[in-house]
Amino acid sequence: MNTAEVRQWLRAARTIVLLSGAGMSAESGVPTFRDAQAGLWADFRPEDLATEQGFRADPRLVWDWYQSRREGVARVQPNAGHLAVAAFQQRHPGRLLVVTQNVDGLHQRAGSPGVLALHGNLAQDKWLEPPRRCCDPARLQEGRPPCCPACGNQRRPAVVWFGEMLPEAELAAAEAAAGACDLMLVVGTSGVVYPAAGLARATRGRVVVINPEPSALDDAADAVLRGTSALLLPDLLEE
Ligand code: OAD
Repeated sequence: MNTAEVRQWLRAARTIVLLSGAGMSAESGVPTFRDAQAGLWADFRPEDLATEQGFRADPRLVWDWYQSRREGVARVQPNAGHLAVAAFQQRHPGRLLVVTQNVDGLHQRAGSPGVLALHGNLAQDKWLEPPRRCCDPARLQEGRPPCCPACGNQRRPAVVWFGEMLPEAELAAAEAAAGACDLMLVVGTSGVVYPAAGLARATRGRVVVINPEPSALDDAADAVLRGTSALLLPDLLEE
């Protein structure tokens, strides 16, 4: 399968969904989940940090881990892949929808409108417990994590942790779009985490996987392009 043929499919597709994973941001310098195992937090398993149980056991540790990820993401820029997607959307309003598993906000910073962030957003916080009348995000007691000065309710990252449900409205919108689209680009995901990975299996449209390595969704693909997102997407999505 060559890129020229996929480019033809893209031209013919009225509606396109791009499902992205950590590999989409790799060339911006954001480590993928696999690569993160080698970094500063290599002594900790994401499963221990990215859970409500982990947060309750050691809120400061988990808060600090997310702060370090926030700082890391703030230092990087959207790459040529993110920018090519946003430019395509500007040229073809309403034709391509981004559904992402990434919490780094890079699609949004590149200018993609209406991104469905299935796993939440690193830049945002929310309450750990259902907010009481005293809980006001504009009046927080500083801390790691910050909390409500009256009742002590803690702020936590607004990301989906292991064992938690995905945001209902985003998932429903993603399922509807995936089911109905003519073409799905599956970019930079290992394809092992559901329900996101299931979107690629539920579509009636063609599926194109973009990944330099084998992924668990290769068997669902009509075409597999072995390459990186920052190299392939500009080539595929330009006029
Ligand atoms: P992974 O880290 O599991 O997989 C990253 C994928 O990107 C791999 O298949 C790599 O081969 C591929 N890749 C690496 N560099 C690339 C590049 N430059 N261009 C294209 N592909 C590249 O990340 P995800 O599949 O996104 O969930 O992980 C899915 C979910 O697992 C995450 O959202 C997270 C984690 O548990 C939650 O936090 C809820």
